[in-house]
Amino acid sequence: MAILITGASAGFGAAMAKTFVQAGYAVIGTARREDKLLDLQQELGELFQPIAMDVCDKNSIQAALNHINMLPEHFHEIDCLINNAGLALGLDKAHQAEFDDWETMIHTNIIGLTYLTRQILPQMVQRGRGLVINMGSIAGNYPYPGGNVYGATKAYVRQFSLNLRADLHGTGVRVSNIEPGLVGGSEFSNVRFKGDDERAAQLYEHANALTPQDIADTALWLYQRPAHMNVNSIEIMPTTQSFAALNVHKTPPASVSGSLNDTPNPSPEPETGLLGKIASLFK
Ligand SMILES: NC(=O)c1ccc[n+]([C@@H]2O[C@H](COP(=O)([O-])OP(=O)(O)OC[C@H]3O[C@@H](n4cnc5c(N)ncnc54)[C@H](OP(=O)(O)O)[C@@H]3O)[C@@H](O)[C@H]2O)c1
Repeated sequence: MAILITGASAGFGAAMAKTFVQAGYAVIGTARREDKLLDLQQELGELFQPIAMDVCDKNSIQAALNHINMLPEHFHEIDCLINNAGLALGLDKAHQAEFDDWETMIHTNIIGLTYLTRQILPQMVQRGRGLVINMGSIAGNYPYPGGNVYGATKAYVRQFSLNLRADLHGTGVRVSNIEPGLVGGSEFSNVRFKGDDERAAQLYEHANALTPQDIADTALWLYQRPAHMNVNSIEIMPTTQSFAALNVHKTPPASVSGSLNDTPNPSPEPETGLLGKIASLFK
């Protein structure tokens, strides 16, 4: 029996690989950067098996699944699939965002996750046991400026998880969605801000954010719940993160009295203002 973790080359995935191996489980870690996975194997030993895989590429997923059959026998049966690979790209407003970034997020966070799940589920159903842990986000539950497609992909992950529960009724296969808020110590914001590491670092300064280890401990806890217990979703924030008031855009009376063609032109929110700060605190 093995745990299959996507996105194991960094952040939550690497922390989960370490945590599950330390707890004695056989782990298959996948990602595009094979060198990072090999480094992890050096550290963790034979209980960790690396396989290069791009979740955006169905052929790559198929090749990785074929590769599993060439590993020692105790890696063949996937008892837990952790769909962790994912990313946010950019924090621009919808009318300014790069469409290519949207496509990449949809391919990675939705299509890749969905395809891999479809490939793994039959063996779990046949065995009458198994757990799928999806990596959602609070961005799937609450909107924020600049969250547009990233948040929408995570809302998909949440609803897909719930619909899987409905389809897997009576099979013994469990599904959980982890929905974290602000987590530091991963590459998430470095990727989101496309290598602007200073901007990424500022986000976590004095924020006392969650850590990848907090998420890894949660995943292990979910896996170790007894077979009769299914946690549908678990939403986790750092204590320092909470909710802001809803926005109201007020139009000054002088603008209202103009002709119908005098549509008031709201001044753009500066990204460095309060809104920008609130947005950047959401993940
Ligand atoms: N950090 C947060 O605050 C936060 C909060 C809520 C939810 N999340 C979610 O948690 C998950 C992990 O985030 P993280 O913070 O650990 O980010 P991270 O450090 O950037 O790690 C992301 C992982 O996903 C992999 N990945 C990205 N695109 C891939 C692709 N096309 N094929 C295969 N692997 C791919 C990366 O590996 P390669 O680049 O080597 O392929 C990397 O291992 C993501 O789904 C993210 O949306 C993060």
